Amino acid sequence: MLEQLNEIEQSALSALQQIEEEQALEAWRVSYLGRNSPLMRVFDGLRSLPNEERPQVGRRANEVKRALEEAYQQKAETLRQVALQRALQSERLDVTLPGRPLARGRLHPLNQTLRRIFAIFAEMGFQVYRSRDIESDEYNFQLLNFPPHHPAREMQDSFYLDLPHPPDNPVLFRTHTSPGQIRAMREFVALNPADPPPVRIVLPGMCARYEQITARSEIQFQQVEGLAVGKAITFSDLKGTLEDFARRMFGGGVRSRFRASHFPFTEPSAEMDIECFVCGGAGCAVCKRSGWLEILGCGMVHPVVLENGGYDPRRYTGFAFGMGVERITLLRYGIEDIRYFYSNDLRFLEQFV
Ligand code: DAH
Repeated sequence: MLEQLNEIEQSALSALQQIEEEQALEAWRVSYLGRNSPLMRVFDGLRSLPNEERPQVGRRANEVKRALEEAYQQKAETLRQVALQRALQSERLDVTLPGRPLARGRLHPLNQTLRRIFAIFAEMGFQVYRSRDIESDEYNFQLLNFPPHHPAREMQDSFYLDLPHPPDNPVLFRTHTSPGQIRAMREFVALNPADPPPVRIVLPGMCARYEQITARSEIQFQQVEGLAVGKAITFSDLKGTLEDFARRMFGGGVRSRFRASHFPFTEPSAEMDIECFVCGGAGCAVCKRSGWLEILGCGMVHPVVLENGGYDPRRYTGFAFGMGVERITLLRYGIEDIRYFYSNDLRFLEQFV
């Protein structure tokens, strides 16, 4: 028995010396210290030994067991150290190497302009109101005082959607953000029907028109609508607000002008021009020799529109405006083609930090 224990110990220890990997170590543990190992069978057999041999063999068996366990622990530790060294070697870090540049995201130039517009109007007390992209003919045209056969209502100018609808009220992608005026006014009126609160909002959003795509027009574009309704709002408020906007958007020295125009939902109506950024007003190809560039339409809210929104036109007046975000961004950065905005070309987009 004692002989056998010596052999077990020797062969186990020499087998252990050969081991260089964790897996082999685990196999070794199973065959020399596991349930069915020769050493464990010696323990199992202790009971059948004669009384006088038992203590000696038992003691020796325990000794061998402890020795193997200790050797096992040592080997495990050695293997861990070796693995660690190897990892440190292969993952060596040279802190003097230059860093890898991170690809930084940027805001789309249109979003930068939008944020600037929001900031300017926020300082004047305008809140952002989001209205829906898909509208009914009623909101997009009828409630805004478009006469029944106005050309903008034709199939050639708008994207109608193939959705169920009442016969005289088809569904379309809004052609401008103006329908949001009605939705917003109605919401404000609902807050206090007896004495509706004043309105001061900007309504941003995507619009679509069935147009030929050129350097100046896309079928999809963003507008920011503005609406102020209150008890003593005048055309001077409109002019002051928009002139201030132009100075803040394009710089303090920018010259602007108002031209009489026509929109069904405003009376009187105007368009606002700013001095051409290319020729400084002298006249060039960009401004078609006029020296001016149009940036928005505006006017005093038509009494019919106020009424449709729920505001009594005898007690309330208001002004409204609608500006093209792409157009303003073109002017702001001197970009010559509107089609860049939605073409997802990084060479273009990366220029707007
Ligand atoms: N809805 C007009 C358009 O898309 C822009 C506009 C003009 C909006 C005058 C207004 C306004 O609110 O008062 O061309």
